[in-house]
Amino acid sequence: MKVSFLGAGAIGSMFAALLRKHAPELDVLVVVRGAHGQAISERGEIEIVGPWGEERVPIAWSFDPQDVAGSDIVFVTVKSQATQAALQQAQTALGDALVVSIQNGINDAQYGGFVPLERLVMGMTTTNMAVLEPGRVSMQLDGCTLFGPATGSSGTTGAQQVVELLRRIQVSGLDFAVERNVLGVRYNKLTINALGYASCLSASNFITEALAYRPWRLGVGRPIVEECRKVFSAGGIEITKIPGRSDLSRIVNLMHALNMPILGKMVQMAIKGKFERSPIVFSLYQDLKKGKPTEVDHINGQIVRLAESVGTTAPVNAEIVAMTHELEEKSGDTFFSRQDVIDRITKLTAI
Ligand SMILES: NC(=O)c1ccc[n+]([C@@H]2O[C@H](COP(=O)([O-])OP(=O)(O)OC[C@H]3O[C@@H](n4cnc5c(N)ncnc54)[C@H](OP(=O)(O)O)[C@@H]3O)[C@@H](O)[C@H]2O)c1
Repeated sequence: MKVSFLGAGAIGSMFAALLRKHAPELDVLVVVRGAHGQAISERGEIEIVGPWGEERVPIAWSFDPQDVAGSDIVFVTVKSQATQAALQQAQTALGDALVVSIQNGINDAQYGGFVPLERLVMGMTTTNMAVLEPGRVSMQLDGCTLFGPATGSSGTTGAQQVVELLRRIQVSGLDFAVERNVLGVRYNKLTINALGYASCLSASNFITEALAYRPWRLGVGRPIVEECRKVFSAGGIEITKIPGRSDLSRIVNLMHALNMPILGKMVQMAIKGKFERSPIVFSLYQDLKKGKPTEVDHINGQIVRLAESVGTTAPVNAEIVAMTHELEEKSGDTFFSRQDVIDRITKLTAI
């Protein structure tokens, strides 16, 4: 069985290497590029770091997306904004492969014209992986990865096949499951990212400097959550819980608790130690620091598009998108002050 990963960065190279290690009978290929790809091609292996320690996993690699030809399953693990270009490059080689997205964003429509609905599986992962240096990836956080049908389809046969395959990876804390309403968990995670991205505009620690700071929580956090919920309700999106991880309902509960006079102080102290030591780092922050294009058009921008498609608006998320683009145009490592962000969002919500 041949399994390919189109776009082997943090997620793609970690899942590919783990699959190769735990199921050596599989023919696993990574389609690589850039400095990370160069390192993999020179060594013929990927170095993976995690609870298992450090390991070098030999892997088949290619710089040519056409080399996915003959695959039974092709995982698409490029950033959302690179999806169409990657599919175009691999298009004639996809054959009858099951194509599986493990990406943030609701980019099902981008697959239209490249993959028929019955061969498309959409995934959402709560894990966190990072490329530490070219050729070396780390599992920062374990978690579940859920798979289900693409928008417009209801069949779960493909998702079941993918879960069966990935369950060969025997790493404690890494779980794979089928989720019929995968769109609901994807929008759930997208809302957390929409909030987190807003905190990145001022390079603020998401929990301790954004959510735990009352003016940000009330002036930025709450309007984002309220706007997302309004748009989901207008769009008939049913949010589904994310098993075992921070999701929208947990974040809303945390925000409520922080608003309470005495309980709020206690919660603040409890989270301070934990999240100052191990802050949640969003890719938007890393991309802005490196001067790379961000995924914001597919996160906060997706809320704006969904709103427009159902005849409403999402001005708060639109402002987060606009402010991110302002930062993208400046040289990397430039951020707003936290007060700037609060002022710009408050101005909108005061109208
Ligand atoms: N990392 C995480 O922990 C995490 C967690 C949850 C969800 N996600 C989502 O998973 C997706 C992948 O994220 P990631 O962190 O793995 O991103 P990443 O590290 O940037 O990996 C994407 C890789 O795809 C490459 N690529 C782009 N276009 C390509 C093409 N046409 N052909 C071949 N390779 C191509 C990129 O190369 P260049 O760098 O040269 O563009 C990069 O190496 C994103 O949607 C992200 O939001 C990530």
